[in-house]
Amino acid sequence: MIEQIFQEIYTATPEVVVRAPGRVNLIGEHTDYNDGFVLPAAIDRSIAFAGRRRADRVVRVHSVDFGASVEFSLDDIQKDDKNSWSNYIRGVSKYLEEDGHQLTGADMVFGGNVPREAGLSSSAAVEVGAAAFWKKLLGLGVDPVYLIKLARKAENQFVGVPCGIMDQFISGLGRENHALFLDCRGLSYRHVPLRSDVKIVVCNSGVKRALAQSEYEVRLKQCRQAVAQIASTGLAGKSLRDLAPEDIEAARPVLSDILYRRARHVVSENYRVLEAVKVLEAGDLGRFGQLMNASHESLRDDYEVSSKELDVLVELARKQPGVLGARMTGAGFGGCTVNLVRQDAAEAFAEAVRRGYQDALGLKAEIYIFKASQGALSA
Ligand code: GLA
Repeated sequence: MIEQIFQEIYTATPEVVVRAPGRVNLIGEHTDYNDGFVLPAAIDRSIAFAGRRRADRVVRVHSVDFGASVEFSLDDIQKDDKNSWSNYIRGVSKYLEEDGHQLTGADMVFGGNVPREAGLSSSAAVEVGAAAFWKKLLGLGVDPVYLIKLARKAENQFVGVPCGIMDQFISGLGRENHALFLDCRGLSYRHVPLRSDVKIVVCNSGVKRALAQSEYEVRLKQCRQAVAQIASTGLAGKSLRDLAPEDIEAARPVLSDILYRRARHVVSENYRVLEAVKVLEAGDLGRFGQLMNASHESLRDDYEVSSKELDVLVELARKQPGVLGARMTGAGFGGCTVNLVRQDAAEAFAEAVRRGYQDALGLKAEIYIFKASQGALSA
């Protein structure tokens, strides 16, 4: 498919094709930028890149999804506000160059089926896809974690979105039929098998994440403030990752109600992830589902990043047969919920939630049954 489009546009055969998946986070929300723990899975929706080298220093990029093309020189990579979809690729290319990797010009096309602005990390897929593209095209001998960090840097510094490392990490190093347990401080990780009799069902509220970026920045600052104020009580810690639930209780007198609740979410969520990994490895999906439910409550009440639509989807989900757990996923303020549903109940679940959502809010939910997939940089 992508090869064919490349052929049509450049009347040539691509030298390389790579694919980078989107992701869904099972548990561990708003913990990554607090040095904490996450448990995402890569999904079977991806962004594909096809391309070939050029003899000069010009990069020509065609976006299938935007039906548009841009061209830039590797010697002067600037942000393009008119074609902001190209900035992910520009950023990745710029930082590779800055690190001394001599890129060549290239012709490329990219496109895919990761829903955009739905909280399924289509931008991370573009960044990681671009990094995987350069790695393969030029045979760069670099390790996956280096490229993952570089992709995040492109998002943080070039595009200007202050995200954590989770999305790029899972897009790079996801594994088929597995979730990925990641410690966002040391970046140590391990893959945890997912059972085939349980499905990951994702419900897209259809509401674009309007407030997501500004509120995300507010949360990030609140977490830093909480750490600083907690430190004034003599409880040292570089980040909320270093604190236990009893520390937050002990520090409560010095925290405003908001900072107390923000900190309580992050700290309790880290503990939930650790337990979730343990019970998943032990095959106790009932308990896993309860932890997902508790995560949602904490995001809704303490972290305040859910929305009416997400709460409705979660409530509907929990009434259906075969559901083990339901929660919002990703940054919040719109986007998707993630549900763990017994395989034999998954189709009926999707239908019932779709209907219920339409009845309750007059809105259409898209529902996906995902399969955990391979990352772009996995060996
Ligand atoms: C967005 C960010 C991630 C992470 C989640 C919330 O997806 O890109 O780094 O912070 O929100 O868990």
